[in-house]
Amino acid sequence: MTLDAPPTPFSVALRQATWARHEGISQAADPDETTSDETDLLGALLSGDLHLDDYTALHAQQYFVYRLLDEAQEALRDHPVAGRFNFPELGRAAAFEADLALLIGPDWRDRVEPIPATRRYLDRMREVCFDWAGGFIAHHYTRYLGDLSGGQAFRAAANDTYGFADGPGVSFYVFDSIPDATAFKDEYRSRLDSAGFTGDERDRVIAEVLGAYDFNGAVLSELGTRMRRSV
Ligand code: HEM
Repeated sequence: MTLDAPPTPFSVALRQATWARHEGISQAADPDETTSDETDLLGALLSGDLHLDDYTALHAQQYFVYRLLDEAQEALRDHPVAGRFNFPELGRAAAFEADLALLIGPDWRDRVEPIPATRRYLDRMREVCFDWAGGFIAHHYTRYLGDLSGGQAFRAAANDTYGFADGPGVSFYVFDSIPDATAFKDEYRSRLDSAGFTGDERDRVIAEVLGAYDFNGAVLSELGTRMRRSV
C-alpha cells in the first residue's frame, strides 16, 4: 500500500506556480539588475529617480483597480468563500482620497482616467470578479499581498524621495490597522488554503493570478514608456 502525499496547501501551490511571473516584474525593477531600463517605473521609484508626476500617474491608475475590487467585494459580501476575504483593514478608499487630493488637487476625480492598459485590466476584472469567487480572490490576492510585501519598499522609497512621512501622498501603502504584515499574510494564506479550491478550480485561480501579473506588468510598461527621466 502506498500512502498519498498530503496535497500541497493552495497558498504554496499558488506561490510556486506564479513566482516566476512575479520575478519577471520585480527583477526588472531591481536597481542592481542589469535588465532595468529607462522605462522601468518601479525601478525608478525604488532608486529615488521617479518624477512626482509619474508617481502620481501610477497612483491614479491603481485607484481604478482598487475601486473595482471594492465594488466586487461588495457584490460578493455574502458569498461563503469570497466573503472570507473581506478584510476591512485592507480598505484603501480613504487612502486614495487623501493621496490623490494632495497629489492632484481636490478635483482629482475629474482629472484622472484609466490608460488603455488599465482599461484592459479593469475589463478582465469586471468579467471574473463579480460572479466567480476564485476570480475575485485571484485579483484581490495579487494586489493586496503585493502591497503588503514589495509595496512596503515603495512606501519607504516614496517617503524618502518625496518626504511624505507616511502621510497623504503615500497612505495607499500604509496599513495602519495591520501592525504585523507577516502575521496578516499568514492568516490570508490560511484562508486561501481553506477556501476549498481543488483540481481544476486551483488551476483556474492560478491562471487568473498569472493574468493579473501580466495586467499589472502591462500597466507599468505603458506608464514607463510615458515617464519623465528624473525627479
Ligand atoms: C519592485 C517590485 C517588487 C518587489 C521588490 C516585490 C517584492 C516582493 C517580496 C519580497 C515578496 C515576498 C514577501 C513575503 O513572502 O512575505 C513579494 C510578494 C508578493 N508580491 Fe511582490 N514585489 C514587487 C512587485 C510586485 C507587483 C508589481 C505585484 C503585483 C501587482 C506583486 C505581487 C506580490 C504578491 C501577490 C506577493 C505574495 C506572494 C505569495 O507569497 O503568495 N509584487 N513581493
